[in-house]
Amino acid sequence: MKMTCHHTLDLHCERDASLKGEQLGYVLGAMHWLEKSVGEVLSKKLDEEYYNNISFSYAFFMDGLQHIIKHFDRQPKFLDVGCGLGTKCFLAGCLGYVPTGLDCNPNYLKVVKQMGKGLNGGFQPIKMIEADGITFDHYDEYDVIYWYLPIRDPAMMIKLSDAIFEGAKPGTVLFPASLVSWRHGDKCERIDIIPKLQYFIKK
Ligand SMILES: C[S@@+](CC[C@H](N)C(=O)[O-])C[C@H]1O[C@@H](n2cnc3c(N)ncnc32)[C@H](O)[C@@H]1O
Repeated sequence: MKMTCHHTLDLHCERDASLKGEQLGYVLGAMHWLEKSVGEVLSKKLDEEYYNNISFSYAFFMDGLQHIIKHFDRQPKFLDVGCGLGTKCFLAGCLGYVPTGLDCNPNYLKVVKQMGKGLNGGFQPIKMIEADGITFDHYDEYDVIYWYLPIRDPAMMIKLSDAIFEGAKPGTVLFPASLVSWRHGDKCERIDIIPKLQYFIKK
C-alpha cells in the first residue's frame, strides 16, 4: 500500500467519482431517512442510550474514504467502532469497502440488520459484531478503522483509542473523527487527507 506520510495538512482530496449525482443523492437521502425516522423510533425505546445527531458530516466522511480506497489493491475491510445505526457502514459499503459495524448495544445492531433488509438489498451487507470496543481483540483484521466518540467519559474514551491503536496491524488507516490526545506518536504516523481531520497509519 502506498501512502504519503507527513505531518502537515497540505494535501487536498478531490471528491472522487465512484458515487455521484443521483446515486449519491439516493444514498445520502437513505442515510438521513435512517437517522431521522428509525432514530426517532429507536430513541423512544433506548432513551438515554440514543444519540440523535453527530456533528460529523457524511461529506467529510466520504471524501476521506474515497481517497483512502485508491491506495488499496483490494476491497479494504472497514470497521466502525460504536457503529450505532450503521450509517457509516452503509456508506463505506457503497464506496467499495467491506463494512463491519461493532457496537456494545444489541438494539442498534438489530436495527442495522433490519435496515439492510429494508433497503432492498441495494446496499452491501454489513457484518455486525456485538462487543465492547475496549476489550475487542480483533482490530488487526481491518484495513480502515473509524470511530466517532462512542464513549462520553474521557478516561474510557482514551482506553478505547488505546485498544484500537495497539490492536491494529501495521498499515491500517485509523480514522478517529474527533480529537484524540496525541499518545500514539511512536505507533503511527499522521497522514494528510482532508484538512482539519486526523488520519493515522499504523507503523
Ligand atoms: C455516537 S454513536 C455512533 C456514531 C457512528 N459511529 C457514526 O459515525 O454515525 C455511539 C455508539 O457507540 C456505542 N458504544 C458506546 N460505548 C461502546 C463500547 N465500549 N464499545 C462499543 N460500542 C460502544 C453506542 O452504543 C452507540 O451506538
